[in-house]
Amino acid sequence: MAKKPTSFFICRVCHTRYPKWTGRCDHCGEWNTLEEEKTSATPRRTPLNKAGRLTTARLDGKAQPPERIDTGMAELNRVLGSGLVPGSAVLVGGDPGIGKSTLMLQMTCALARGQQSVLYVSGEEAIDQIRLRAQRLELDRSPSTVNALELAASINVADISATLEERRVHRVVVIDSIQTMWHEDVASAPGSVSQVKHCAFELIRLAKTLGFVLVIIGHVTKEGALAGPRVLEHMVDAVLYFEGDRGHQFRILRAAKNRFGATDEIGVFAMTDVGLREVPNPSALFLAERHGNIAGSAVFAGLEGTRPVLLEVQVLLSAKAGDGGARRAVIGWDSSRLSMILAVLEARCGLKLGSMDVHLNVTGGLKITEPAADLAVAAALISAATGQPTAANAAYFGEVGLSGEIRQVAQTEQRLKEIGKLGFQYAVLPRHVGNANTRPKPPKGLIIQETGHLSDLVAQFAPKANDASS
Ligand code: TYD
Ligand code: MG
Repeated sequence: MAKKPTSFFICRVCHTRYPKWTGRCDHCGEWNTLEEEKTSATPRRTPLNKAGRLTTARLDGKAQPPERIDTGMAELNRVLGSGLVPGSAVLVGGDPGIGKSTLMLQMTCALARGQQSVLYVSGEEAIDQIRLRAQRLELDRSPSTVNALELAASINVADISATLEERRVHRVVVIDSIQTMWHEDVASAPGSVSQVKHCAFELIRLAKTLGFVLVIIGHVTKEGALAGPRVLEHMVDAVLYFEGDRGHQFRILRAAKNRFGATDEIGVFAMTDVGLREVPNPSALFLAERHGNIAGSAVFAGLEGTRPVLLEVQVLLSAKAGDGGARRAVIGWDSSRLSMILAVLEARCGLKLGSMDVHLNVTGGLKITEPAADLAVAAALISAATGQPTAANAAYFGEVGLSGEIRQVAQTEQRLKEIGKLGFQYAVLPRHVGNANTRPKPPKGLIIQETGHLSDLVAQFAPKANDASS
């Protein structure tokens, strides 16, 4: 006799389970986040090998590095750690509309072009829509590519797994998206926590047994209203997040977890009218629209993962409007760090900005998280306050301490290399501590300006004596 369906309630936000419905989750304190989950799954015993016993191994046996499948896209390979690993599961998460389907369709096409047999299953779009998108993307339609790529529109995981098990030809399978998938064993609606988990589990199990690469697309929403792919993070081998500001063309693919590679790699893309274009040299693009001779702008030599990128920090100061506190509007940086830099400039360098509204923007839609940006932010602020532009050919990096001292940051040599590569003449950076042998070597032609204290930086912007007379 089939087991009676059991029902329980699960919080959409923190995934705590409750036997009964309540209005507020005791665990995370959110209201109205419990949803009913029904499952008729009678536990079945399905041994993965015939004997139903574990095969154990010794630690000292030979280990081969995993085989890699070249995706045909260098930026994607870089984030994955030189390609896809057969039998692994990769989750590609991101906001709706950010370009996940576009990226994956371009990848499947590039794979098919390399004669890898690929299946793209869409639960969101009809076949015709995918074809139209492929047309818009001007994807390769040569017979050899077209033969290697199969499209399917389905949300039924049982059908998908039956097909994969029967055909056993696919090397890469893309599921777009996991929130649309449905498994008959679970009574709740697609997108619910248990449905998402169950479908993913079934597909991942199949990928491991049949040895294909499973790529799962998942939408994340800020409110966590959907059963986001966060529940899946621990089930898959790699988690990549596709990020960007929809108003800007840049998109960053970031590895948040990777069992087969580094997690701090990023891939940079630009969304164009013919799809995503790879950006092998992001600094040049981020600085393309820079006008060096405007006060309030400074170039920051940052690191995104292991990759150096130059970005422009812009500051605009204006007299405070109204009686309230001064406005601090920050895009792409941490506003509490901005307050700290402003306080340090005031307390240690006598630069009074308390009565000014401050607008700070990192161009290109990127978000900086490194404290190494402090020095560039300070330079932009001082430049805006004094009305003197920073040198058009200088780039900045360094952390600012509470006493105004400028502290060393990691990867100095890599940052200098990037600054040199982009044709800058000066690098303004923290003073080197330690012996001369460990001093990072700047590339040829780059002039190093070591700065120990913020007041030294302020002094560089002091109006020159002959300025007054001219
Ligand atoms: P899409 O890949 O459908 O996003 P997701 O799968 O993450 O929801 O991309 C959606 C957006 O990308 C859409 O708003 C239009 C834009 N876009 C372009 O700008 N150029 C293109 O060539 C394509 C295909 C999409
Ligand atoms: Mg999509």
